Amino acid sequence: MAKTRYVCDSCGHDTAKWYGQCPSCGEWNSMGEISLAEDKGRAPARTGAGAAAPLPLAAVNRDERPRLVSGIDELDRVLGGGLVPGAAVLVAGDPGVGKSTLMLQAAHELSAQGSPVLYVTGEESAKQIRLRADRLSLPGDAILVLAETVVDGLGKLIAEHRPGCIMVDSVQAVRLSGVDGTPGSIAQVRAVSDFLIGLAKTTDLPLIVAGHVTKEGAAAGPRALEHLVDAVLYFEGERAQQLRVLRAQKNRFGSVDEIGLFEMGDGGLREVSDPTGALLGDPARPQSGCAVSAALSGTRPLLVQIEALVAPASYGTGRRVSVGIDNARAALVLAVLERRAGVVLGSADVFLGVSGGLKLTEPGSDLALALAVASSAEDRALAPRTVAIGEIGLSGELRPVSGMRRRVQEAVRLGFETIVGPLGDEATLAPKPRVARTLEEAMDAAL
Ligand code: TYD
Ligand code: MG
Repeated sequence: MAKTRYVCDSCGHDTAKWYGQCPSCGEWNSMGEISLAEDKGRAPARTGAGAAAPLPLAAVNRDERPRLVSGIDELDRVLGGGLVPGAAVLVAGDPGVGKSTLMLQAAHELSAQGSPVLYVTGEESAKQIRLRADRLSLPGDAILVLAETVVDGLGKLIAEHRPGCIMVDSVQAVRLSGVDGTPGSIAQVRAVSDFLIGLAKTTDLPLIVAGHVTKEGAAAGPRALEHLVDAVLYFEGERAQQLRVLRAQKNRFGSVDEIGLFEMGDGGLREVSDPTGALLGDPARPQSGCAVSAALSGTRPLLVQIEALVAPASYGTGRRVSVGIDNARAALVLAVLERRAGVVLGSADVFLGVSGGLKLTEPGSDLALALAVASSAEDRALAPRTVAIGEIGLSGELRPVSGMRRRVQEAVRLGFETIVGPLGDEATLAPKPRVARTLEEAMDAAL
């Protein structure tokens, strides 16, 4: 019997009945019809229901092919040590952020290892890809470009050309012929992802697909796409700035805390393996309102500069605006600063930001945040070459955070001398440790 489902174009919510407004995300006129035809185009169910017999776990074949290491360290680390054969990776990001550039550079590195890379482009012509490769000075003899929007025949091409890796740019630009809807529609994105993921599994090849992100930050088309793939890497950055951050939002084969840093320049993406220059001002001449923290991003300590501007409010109540810092954390730190350390913010506007457009997600940067605000409020710079590490409690006490030793080591390696915070044994690592148990003590030590 023919069945019809309705799926929201914005969030992927799936219902049997049509709604003018999506019951899940509240978007208007976003429900699109999916007919049964969709299922015809789908890849065979991966579980092969009915065909396979259950096996004792211990008897399951675990022969693994090694990961495919691209040699682009910033990418490999975020992947958890390279691409996993048979696994699908979504590289999501705003148009223009550099997804195609990243994929082409990765294709070049991977194809240099023996097997060609199959690069399916639904968005750009083969000539455009060639021009990009020229711009990046990549020879591209082992990159097989396929400018095609219908992906049905991909399995045959793979069998013929035996690539070592498949890339599809982008999932919203390609379609399956048996499925209704234009490329990028919810039905197509679902069907295409299912098909491609199935293809990766059956061929045991790693798959990278690019996907565009909506204004709200969700991978466009169905959210479901994020659940289908094995890893979702978000590629972020301000167009006007050069820094690009690759962040794992989901990874079945690695940590989601890792980030990779790149700079977009004339010759494409360059890895930023030592982020100090990109993320910090001149440590010897700090400015008021700036404080450096050693954040931990996965296994990697990362020195970041936190910037604060305290300015008289133009209206009654001050605005509190933070970019890259969780609002609740910022509010907590500002409240403690006022109540426990006597920094009067009153109705002033307070703007907070993180250098390079990074996002801070862990509490180890609380102390640097507080010091940046205090420094701006008092218009006094922190002592030169100072790093602040520590979480702030509601009573103004400082708490050590995970990986203190690694953070201090990295700061010292990069030439910072004064380390302020609730230091334990790590104090012995720093030229000028300033052990502080409370926010007030830290302010005395740093300001
Ligand atoms: P692109 O990889 O096409 O982005 P996406 O696939 O995510 O849409 O990158 C597009 C931007 O990058 C474009 O604005 C130009 C810039 N760019 C450089 O600055 N240098 C380069 O070498 C390349 C290839 C692109
Ligand atoms: Mg692109």
